[in-house]
Amino acid sequence: MNGSLRATFRAAFHRDPHGVWAAPGRVNLIGEHVDYAGGLCLPLALPQRTVVAAATRDDGQLRLRSWQRDAAPWDGAVDTVGPGHPSGWAAYAAGVIWALGAPAGGLDLLVGESVPPGAGLASSAALECAVALAVDALYGLGLAATTNGRAQLAAACRRAENEIAGAPTGGMDQLASLCCTPGHALLLDCRDHTMRQLPLNLRAAGLNLLVVDTGAPHRHMDGEYAERRRSAELAAAALGVPSLREASSHRIGELTDPVLRRRARHVVSEITRVQEVVALLDAGRVGDIGPLLNASHASLRDDLDVSSPELDDVVDTACAAGALGARMTGGGFGGSALILVEQHTAATVASAVGARKCITVL
Ligand code: GLA
Repeated sequence: MNGSLRATFRAAFHRDPHGVWAAPGRVNLIGEHVDYAGGLCLPLALPQRTVVAAATRDDGQLRLRSWQRDAAPWDGAVDTVGPGHPSGWAAYAAGVIWALGAPAGGLDLLVGESVPPGAGLASSAALECAVALAVDALYGLGLAATTNGRAQLAAACRRAENEIAGAPTGGMDQLASLCCTPGHALLLDCRDHTMRQLPLNLRAAGLNLLVVDTGAPHRHMDGEYAERRRSAELAAAALGVPSLREASSHRIGELTDPVLRRRARHVVSEITRVQEVVALLDAGRVGDIGPLLNASHASLRDDLDVSSPELDDVVDTACAAGALGARMTGGGFGGSALILVEQHTAATVASAVGARKCITVL
C-alpha cells in the first residue's frame, strides 16, 4: 500500500514524499453526544485508518490530492486558509496546517487509503490527525512523542474541523484517533480533559465487538448535530450550570420545554451509563455491559432523536439474534452500529444483520 501511495505521490508531484503517516478511525463503546457537554466517552481505535504521504515546500503553497472519489485536488497559498476556505475535504487537511500555526513553507500532500467516509467512524478526524502527524514530523514540532503533545495536536485538529470546515463537533474523535492504544478503551473526561487507558481484551473474555455500517447516508447530519449541541447548552444555561455534566438527573424535571428536557435527559443519563460501564470494565465484567449499550441506544433513539430506521433495525435484529447488546455509534442519522456478542454467536448475529455490512470484528 505504501509503495503505491509513494508511486502516486511521485506521479502527482514529480518528486518523492518525505514520509508516510497514518491515523485510525474510532468506534465509541459508549458516551455518545456528551463530549460537547463536558461528559465522558469511551472510544476504541479501529483497524481502518487514513494514510497520507507528504513533503515540505519552501514557497508557502499547499497542494492537496486524494485517492478518494469526489475529492477534487486543491492548490492554494497557506496564508489564504481561513474559516470557510477551502471548502469540502480540503478544509480538513488545510485546516490542520492553519490550526498548527501554518508552517510557512507549505506542503505537498496525498491522501491514500481512508477510513470509510460517512460511516460514523470518524473519517474526518482520521484525515485531520494523519495530516497533523505529518506536519508534526516534517516541521519538527515534537508533539506526537508525548500524550500531552498528542492532546495538543488533537485540539488543533478539532479547531480545524470547528473553525475551517465549520462542523461544531466536540473533540472526542480527534483525541481517540491520536491517543487510543491497542487493547484499550480510552476513557475521556471532556470536562477536565484527563484520559485513562482501560484494558479491554474482548477476545480473552470470549467476546467480539462487531462494527456494522448501515450504509445509510448521514441525512441532515450537520444542522441536526448543531441543534443537539445547542440544546445541551440551552439546558445547562436554564439549570444555571456550566455544562450538563454538572446537572444531576433529579434536576432535569425543572426544564419546562419537553424537547429540551428529553435532550438533557439523554446527556445526563448517558454520562451515568459510561460510569457504570467503566465500573464493570474495572471489575473485569465486560460481558455484563450489554444492557447499558441497549439503554444507550434507546436514549439516543427516543430522547435525543439521532438514530435512524436503519440503525434501529440493525440493533433490534442483532439483539433478537442473541447479541449481548447493541447501539448506534458516532453522530447518528445513519452510519454504524456496534454489537457485543459472545464469540460462539458472532457468525449467527453477523449473518442476521447482513454479513456484508459487517466491516470490522474486534
Ligand atoms: C461526532 C462528533 C463527536 C461526538 C460524536 C457523538 O462523531 O465528531 O465529537 O459528538 O459525534 O458522540
